[in-house]
Amino acid sequence: MSAFPEALVSPRAQIDAYLERVVSSMDAPGSLREAVGYALLSEGKRVRPALAWHACVCAGGTGTDSLPGGAAIELVHCFSLVHDDLPAMDDDELRRGRPTLHIAKGEAMAILAGDAMLTHAFGLLAGEVVDPARAAVACRELATGTGRMIGGQVYDTLGGLPEGLDDLSRLETIHTGKTGALLEASCRIGAVLGASEPDGGEAAERLGAFGRTVGLVFQIVDDLLDVERSAEEVGKKTGKDAAAGKLTYPGVMGVEAARREAERLSEASVELLAPFGPEADPLRELAAWLVVRDR
Ligand code: IPE
Ligand code: IPE
Ligand code: MG
Ligand code: MG
Ligand code: MG
Repeated sequence: MSAFPEALVSPRAQIDAYLERVVSSMDAPGSLREAVGYALLSEGKRVRPALAWHACVCAGGTGTDSLPGGAAIELVHCFSLVHDDLPAMDDDELRRGRPTLHIAKGEAMAILAGDAMLTHAFGLLAGEVVDPARAAVACRELATGTGRMIGGQVYDTLGGLPEGLDDLSRLETIHTGKTGALLEASCRIGAVLGASEPDGGEAAERLGAFGRTVGLVFQIVDDLLDVERSAEEVGKKTGKDAAAGKLTYPGVMGVEAARREAERLSEASVELLAPFGPEADPLRELAAWLVVRDR
């Protein structure tokens, strides 16, 4: 297994401590809190909160300023995973190396825990971001990203893409939606929580473009891991995309070309960071690691 980059390792303890407080302070039945904790606090990579952390620093804030934003996005991400795994969606039984939430606690609780995580994400931003203008912008950014993620999931699961697109454009539409949108939102919200302007200014635009591009890299590599790795390595069942007839990068262009496309996009994402100095080195490191990650 390849090691995690410093950009993920260094903020991890603070991100996890914050997420634990989020769960323990949730005003909800104990069974629901337990289900949310099961999904949220399990061994994920925390890529999205780490992006928010480093984007916040690039925009002029501290990593700590990003924590409500990073936690809100991780809540939405985990809601999307819990619902993605449901029998009506991808019907998966393994996630983050253990049974999916609906296998562990039943389908009704998995649906409700997803509902709770989604709702709590917005409550967290509204309640924990001190400046009301900034909180409103962060909520809007999260709503945009979440809405686009759901749109991507609709295309991925049910089809219905606009007519006349070739396979690559179809893929790009699905992947930038279902995965890219939340990575873009991670960077934009990080910038909003760090910049002097409450809307994040030019930093939010630039870091958002970076997030959109690495978001595509992220899903291309997720598709590659599904083809090339074992469930033991990645903590979720693999070899399932082809079996489910999913439209994937390796499926459309082959494994080698998909890998080259991920490398090309990763380099393009780093170029978008050119106006930033060494404060963007962790984002550069993340962009490079996302291509070679093996889980
Ligand atoms: C998996 O995301 C789902 C996709 C969007 C491809 P991650 O690979 O970030 O999952 P965790 O959070 O580390 O479990
Ligand atoms: C996941 O795509 C996208 C979202 C959960 C929004 P996948 O279905 O490929 O993710 P995995 O492979 O189950 O993690
Ligand atoms: Mg899916
Ligand atoms: Mg899935
Ligand atoms: Mg996948």
